Amino acid sequence: MNSHSSAPHLRIFPDEQQAAVFAATVIESRIRARAAEGKFAVLGLATGQTPLAVYRELVRRHRTNGLSFQNVITFNLDEYCGLPPEHPQSYRFFMERELFSQIDIAPEHTHIPDGMGTAAEHAVRCRKYEAAIRAAGGIDLQILGIGRTGHIGFNEPPAGPETRTRCVELNALTLADNARFFGAEESVPRQAVTMGVGTILEAKEILLLAFGEKKADVVARALQETPAEECPASWLQQHPRCTWLVDAAAGAKLAEENFSQ
Ligand code: F6R
Repeated sequence: MNSHSSAPHLRIFPDEQQAAVFAATVIESRIRARAAEGKFAVLGLATGQTPLAVYRELVRRHRTNGLSFQNVITFNLDEYCGLPPEHPQSYRFFMERELFSQIDIAPEHTHIPDGMGTAAEHAVRCRKYEAAIRAAGGIDLQILGIGRTGHIGFNEPPAGPETRTRCVELNALTLADNARFFGAEESVPRQAVTMGVGTILEAKEILLLAFGEKKADVVARALQETPAEECPASWLQQHPRCTWLVDAAAGAKLAEENFSQ
C-alpha cells in the first residue's frame, strides 16, 4: 500500500454469491432508509457479468420480502454508441431484462446514457445527464464492476478524476473481453458514452465488486498502486466511502494486511 491514500475498505468473500447478498443488503438498507424519510434513493448502476447476482438477489427480495423500488431513481454508468435501446446487447436492454422489468421501479426514474446520435448530440446529452444526476440530488450509492484495463464505467486508461460524462473509445482488451456477448470482436461497438471518473467519485457511497481470477491483477493494481490515469479504478482510493467486495480469486494478489476489513 502506498502512502498517498487511506486504507480502502475491503471485504473478501468465499464466493461471488455471498458478496452479492452483502451488496444487496447494503442497497436494500439505503432504499428503506430513504423510504422511511419519504425520499428517493438514487442508485448508480452497472451492467456486465459482475452485478448479475446482485440484481437477482434484489429481484428475489422484491418478490419475497416486499422490497419496493417506488422511491428509487437510477443512473447507469454507460451505454455503447450506435446501439438502439431495443438492441439485445445494448445496456438499456440488459437493464430492462435483468432488473427493471422484474421490479416496481417507475420507467421514468431509470436513466441510461443515450448511445445514439452524432458527436454534437452526444456532447449536449452528456451535459444533460450530469445535470439530471445533480437535479436528483446526486448519487447516493454507486455500484461498480472493474475491467481488466482498470476501467470503471468505460473510463479506459488514461482517465483522471477531472473526466465527466462523455463519448470514449474502448480499449482493445475491453473489445476482446466483451466479444463473448456479441459473438465476434468485430461486432463490439468501438465507442461508448460513459460517466466520467469525476462523476463516479461524486457518488456519496460506492461498492465495487470484482470476481474471478481474471480480475486479480487489476484489483491488486487499483488498490495498491498510487492513483494514476493508467489505472482509472485507482482513483477510488481517494473516495471516503468506497468498499471493495471481492471473492477469494479476485483478492488473491492483494497484500491483505494493508486493508481494513
Ligand atoms: C459496465 C461497466 C464496466 C464493467 C466492467 C466489468 O456498465 O461499466 O466497467 O463493470 O467492464 O465487466 P464484467 O462485469 O462483465 O466483468
